[in-house]
Amino acid sequence: MYYPLVRKALFQLDPEHAHELTFRQLRRLSGSPFEFLIRQSLPAKPVSCMGLSFKNPLGLAAGLDKDGECIDAFGAMGFGFVEVGTVTPRPQAGNDKPRLFRVVEAEGLINRMGFNNRGVDNLVENVRKSRFGGILGINIGKNKDTPVENGKDDYLLCMEKVYPHAGYIAVNISSPNTPGLRSLQYGEALDELLAAIKNKQAELQQQHHKYVPVAVKIAPDLSEEELVQIADSLVRHNIDGVIATNTTLDRKLVHGLNYCEQAGGLSGRPVQLRSTEVIRRLSLELQGRLPIIGVGGIDSLTAAREKMQAGASLIQVYSGFIYHGPALIKNIINAI
Ligand SMILES: Cc1cc2nc3c(=O)[nH]c(=O)nc-3n(C[C@H](O)[C@H](O)[C@H](O)COP(=O)(O)O)c2cc1C
Repeated sequence: MYYPLVRKALFQLDPEHAHELTFRQLRRLSGSPFEFLIRQSLPAKPVSCMGLSFKNPLGLAAGLDKDGECIDAFGAMGFGFVEVGTVTPRPQAGNDKPRLFRVVEAEGLINRMGFNNRGVDNLVENVRKSRFGGILGINIGKNKDTPVENGKDDYLLCMEKVYPHAGYIAVNISSPNTPGLRSLQYGEALDELLAAIKNKQAELQQQHHKYVPVAVKIAPDLSEEELVQIADSLVRHNIDGVIATNTTLDRKLVHGLNYCEQAGGLSGRPVQLRSTEVIRRLSLELQGRLPIIGVGGIDSLTAAREKMQAGASLIQVYSGFIYHGPALIKNIINAI
């Protein structure tokens, strides 16, 4: 109701400053007598996916709450699941500022944050303190200064630490802002990583007496042939789910707009169609053998429906949430 006003004020500020200010307020409101200001009561729309029960199919995408600082606040707004991270083994500062830009005319964002986060131990502490009753996804990555050849070790280390606290684990190999990361999406590098992750999952299952599904997050900038190969690897390694997609490097749809030349990943409306195409193609290839979590440019009920019609079992939002606020959750969940 009041988000258009809040947005107007926030959009006067530098995007990262607006983010910090919002997070400070959300932490204050959450659990306080004023929590009603952010709470939305929504109907249950249960979905089973990856062996888990989601109270509704809409989640918060990774990258907004990298350190798991506002999990309860996002839960109060009505998200069925919240994906925190990307988190890395050691804390890291990320790229130099400015590194986040609004492409307002296209309802897009460009970011080259570079996995700024306080490290996996801090994230686990925050998760422990949260009271969120929905499904918590924890998205993991590698530190920038870990050579890509050793990237696997960072994923395995994060897995060990987050496993007891996660509803599912998301393996991010598709951020464009960590040099070399996307190379893990191809061929032998992918097979090796997935084999190691499945071994670790089996070991941790024994140790903790629970099975935590693993989903792999992929880029929208893949050729059809590459997509088919990735789908084949995911099936061969019995991966539990695929998250499609991350941000794009393509600038065709924002050509000539403010900030369009900034380096980084583009999200929001300009990635909507491409991400739906990837989901449709993946769905054709996977034939239901593993579920798809659809993300990329969802900014309305129609866009949410398109992702699900293309084959997504669950959906996530980031940029659309920045442009439309909590009402987007309500509009989607009430009608879907
Ligand atoms: C500022 C920003 C930071 C992001 N950070 C991450 C991240 O750390 N890990 C990740 O897997 N995805 C990250 N993403 C990608 C989103 O999770 C999502 O896949 C992408 O933005 C497409 O969805 P959207 O169009 O709804 O934003 C980030 C996106 C933005 C805009």
